[in-house]
Amino acid sequence: MSQKRIGVIGGDGIGPEVVAQAIKVLSAATGGDAFVFTQLPWGAEHYLQTGVTVPEGEFERWRREFDAIFLGALGDPRIPDMRHGRDILLGARMRLDLFINMRPIKLLDTSLTPLRDRAPEDIDYVIFRENTEGLYVGMGGQLRPGTRHEVATSAMIATYRGTERIVRAAFDHAVEHDLGRVCLAIKHNAIPHAHGLWNRVFQEVRTEYPTIDSSQLYADVAAMELVRDPTRFDVLVTSNLLGDILSDLAAQTVGGLGVAPSGNIHPGQVSLFEPVHGSAPDIAGQGKANPLAAILTAAMMARHLGYGEDAGRIERAVQMLIREGVTTPDLGGSETTVSAGDAVCRRL
Ligand SMILES: NC(=O)c1ccc[n+]([C@@H]2O[C@H](COP(=O)([O-])OP(=O)(O)OC[C@H]3O[C@@H](n4cnc5c(N)ncnc54)[C@H](O)[C@@H]3O)[C@@H](O)[C@H]2O)c1
Repeated sequence: MSQKRIGVIGGDGIGPEVVAQAIKVLSAATGGDAFVFTQLPWGAEHYLQTGVTVPEGEFERWRREFDAIFLGALGDPRIPDMRHGRDILLGARMRLDLFINMRPIKLLDTSLTPLRDRAPEDIDYVIFRENTEGLYVGMGGQLRPGTRHEVATSAMIATYRGTERIVRAAFDHAVEHDLGRVCLAIKHNAIPHAHGLWNRVFQEVRTEYPTIDSSQLYADVAAMELVRDPTRFDVLVTSNLLGDILSDLAAQTVGGLGVAPSGNIHPGQVSLFEPVHGSAPDIAGQGKANPLAAILTAAMMARHLGYGEDAGRIERAVQMLIREGVTTPDLGGSETTVSAGDAVCRRL
């Protein structure tokens, strides 16, 4: 297999700390030179020193020079409006058209779930969140701002093309991975125009996948079902805003931020992988950050780039670690960021 070129943005706070462990584990699992890593300096420090969040032409360069981007986290108390984070992360999502936000929800050990009587085989599904449209496009405005007569609008965008491709991606994923069920979670009862389109597209696309059991839930019902009976899901597809909320809820049912990976994907093009957590300024520089989310994210990226077997080994090593209680303080253990990364390497 050809060597994979990864652009690495450690970013801010605990970002660089967890990214270092993820790279170490990925290199150990794949034998050293299957992946080459290029460090990119974009983040709070670079912005504060130069005034540049991300240089002109950078996203186009990523398309040319990298197979994937691996991001730690962005966010710094010195930049309260998060301008650099928006430019880099939302910029990448929009400019690279990363329309799939993929969030695997997999319980690695019973000890991690707050749900009663749930075993690892009960919670194992993936969320496909639309990543480029919906309420997050930033369209809207204010009238009479700063007065008691202020009016504010934010437009929710749904296009046929944008909806069809994420719904199709969810069905394709189900077929590829032998998963029997795809469930749509939207609110077409309350949002008849934009989500009415989602509903119609889903009805249309589902007919092309007769072997997949397709269903739909109102998103509020889906939120309850993710807690009440997570066994009923294999693939959940949803819009940008709803996916943002549902995927955080779902992540908490399998252990939360310390173990939650994600990918921002455009199939066949450069995609961006990042742990779900932020830069955690409260614990940055203390060696306390849990590297497992970043390590599981590296496994997800490896699988995406054709290294499925190595990805599986990384995931099993992480699972062993959690079962043995060899974890950082957030999961009840006493390991440091570095010693947890080393422990994963030993179990490979
Ligand atoms: N994608 C991203 O880069 C991203 C995502 C969320 C938040 N942020 C940014 O990160 C900064 C902090 O945000 P926040 O505090 O709301 O969220 P956060 O995820 O950084 O932290 C929330 C809590 O979880 C803990 N935590 C997070 N990751 C952890 C890990 N790997 N190991 C152990 N504990 C961990 C933190 O210590 C904190 O108590 C803000 O600037 C925010 O805008 C960035």
